[in-house]
Amino acid sequence: MDAVAFQEYLDQGGTVDLNDPMPEAYKLAASRVIGFQCLSEIVGGMMFAEWIPQTPGLLRKMMLTAKIQDEMGHAHYLLRICEELGLSRQQIIEDYLNGKSKLLNTFHYRIETWHEWPACALVSNSAAIIQFKSLNKVSFLPYARAIKRIMKEESFHYHHALNLCTQLCLTAPEHLQKVQEGINKWWFPVLAYFGPPDTHNFEMQQNVRWGLKVDSNDSLRQQWLTKIVPVLQNIGLTIPDPKLRWDEEKQEWEFTEPDWAEVKRVIKGGGPASKHWHETLTRCYNDQSWVRSLAYKEGVLAS
Ligand SMILES: [Fe+2]
Ligand SMILES: [Fe+2]
Repeated sequence: MDAVAFQEYLDQGGTVDLNDPMPEAYKLAASRVIGFQCLSEIVGGMMFAEWIPQTPGLLRKMMLTAKIQDEMGHAHYLLRICEELGLSRQQIIEDYLNGKSKLLNTFHYRIETWHEWPACALVSNSAAIIQFKSLNKVSFLPYARAIKRIMKEESFHYHHALNLCTQLCLTAPEHLQKVQEGINKWWFPVLAYFGPPDTHNFEMQQNVRWGLKVDSNDSLRQQWLTKIVPVLQNIGLTIPDPKLRWDEEKQEWEFTEPDWAEVKRVIKGGGPASKHWHETLTRCYNDQSWVRSLAYKEGVLAS
């Protein structure tokens, strides 16, 4: 399809389904955006899976297991879409293992205490929900449909984390203190999760012009702060940013800007757990190669 006519179509609010004509560049960009999220779903699930044995009580264990199962399901929906666009699941994983693609900053850390997991889940799931509310308006309909489905389950994850944090924070001061330590660790990585400020060139970004990105990083960050700040404060937690305040005049949150040089260094593989996740995924991928080759042979997976 002619690139100019396609852009005009999108500018008028046009949407694109799988079998619709689309320029190769758009197809490639859509598969990259979706493939990037697949990696987040997989590593995000693995981060929490490490804590199933230490989670007390059968009910909480079952709830955590269900969350991890959901994350793998999210990756699966998205991988299927990528395959339809010509990007194989093998390629997505191998690009990460070979250093051709990077994980989001929050996936370069590891949960280190049991109290940390509900704290991490609460801030990161609320951030993901804000991101998905925006993504369900993208021009590429298969992705928008998958996001709508994923969001319902993310809402369950968020409420599970909120329920557990509330229970811990209201039970005893020592639990509250430990959850607070988790918030202190995850606050800035999640604030940075939305990406660096992009308002000045937002309209010009190719993915924005194609409708594959809808809201600016700054706008999403502001929406997240509006959502999460009162939630944390209501259960007795403190936001670990002394600069944070609502600016009545500007109608926006003022906060300490994340250290973007540090975020860049983390994303490049300099995070405290970058090596751990890379090695874990490499090991899993190699250990399961026999399943993959069987699935390709039987035609269960598209090569
Ligand atoms: Fe997910
Ligand atoms: Fe989730």
